[in-house]
Amino acid sequence: MASEPTPEGTPAPLLVLDDVHAGYGRAAMVLRGLTIEVPPGTVVCLVGPNGAGKSTVLKVASGLLKPRGGRVLVGGRDVTGQGPQQMLASGLAHVLQGHSVFREMTVAENVLLGAYTLRDKERIAERVEFVRNLFPVVGERWKQLAGLLSGGQQKQVEFARSLMVDPAVVLLDEPSMGLDPKTTATVFAQVARMRDAGTAVLLVEQNARRALETADLGCVLDLGRVHISGPAPQLLADPQLSELYLGGRPAEPSLSGEG
Ligand SMILES: Nc1ncnc2c1ncn2[C@@H]1O[C@H](COP(=O)(O)OP(=O)(O)O)[C@@H](O)[C@H]1O
Ligand SMILES: [Mg+2]
Repeated sequence: MASEPTPEGTPAPLLVLDDVHAGYGRAAMVLRGLTIEVPPGTVVCLVGPNGAGKSTVLKVASGLLKPRGGRVLVGGRDVTGQGPQQMLASGLAHVLQGHSVFREMTVAENVLLGAYTLRDKERIAERVEFVRNLFPVVGERWKQLAGLLSGGQQKQVEFARSLMVDPAVVLLDEPSMGLDPKTTATVFAQVARMRDAGTAVLLVEQNARRALETADLGCVLDLGRVHISGPAPQLLADPQLSELYLGGRPAEPSLSGEG
């Protein structure tokens, strides 16, 4: 999706959550004035402890949960209150927390589920080629049962499925959950590849340090709002932030090129 440059010359954000308030039933609000912007060509990472409301942010963005206040803008267009189907059509694809691969179906069948809103066969074939190139494992295992793949490979199948509609922004909910450190590194490398191939990413993670190492911009969610935000390397280098939110001191810069 093309975006108009703002007068200052910085590209306009693809997704804006503006002063969002949201919650469940009669319980206290989970999000209380949350604002996040996702510019084109970036991975924005939202970190925060378990229960802070990270998944709730993504549910508001993908239309699974209607906000009680504030606005959701996609490409400058107000889409507040739209449902999941309309949000997908507007360019927001959501990869849910946990596992959503159908193990008894082939990799191909799993990926093609992401194309159910597409009508044009040529367009579908183009997208299949695109995701098979971007995630080589998906291409190599195309005809196999998805249940035979490792956890990290199944995550790539989920990524491939979400990219079938060529979304402007993909919403990733804790893609590293349950994966070992080496597989986590591979999955984060694939997140960077998605960005480099033209899809902006809003990533939420409990695995804050590793996620910020992948991200361009970072935000810290605390008490229902974004508490601190900035370039990810800046957040990683901040000793106070490290102590409070990233589980200790900044690590030595990683020199390994694994993944
Ligand atoms: N479907 C739901 N119904 C009621 N409360 C919920 C629901 N989903 C999440 N919550 C509550 O909202 C808060 C934020 O949850 P969530 O967004 O899942 O946090 P995170 O993803 O950061 O772990 C938690 O207190 C959680 O118990
Ligand atoms: Mg969550």
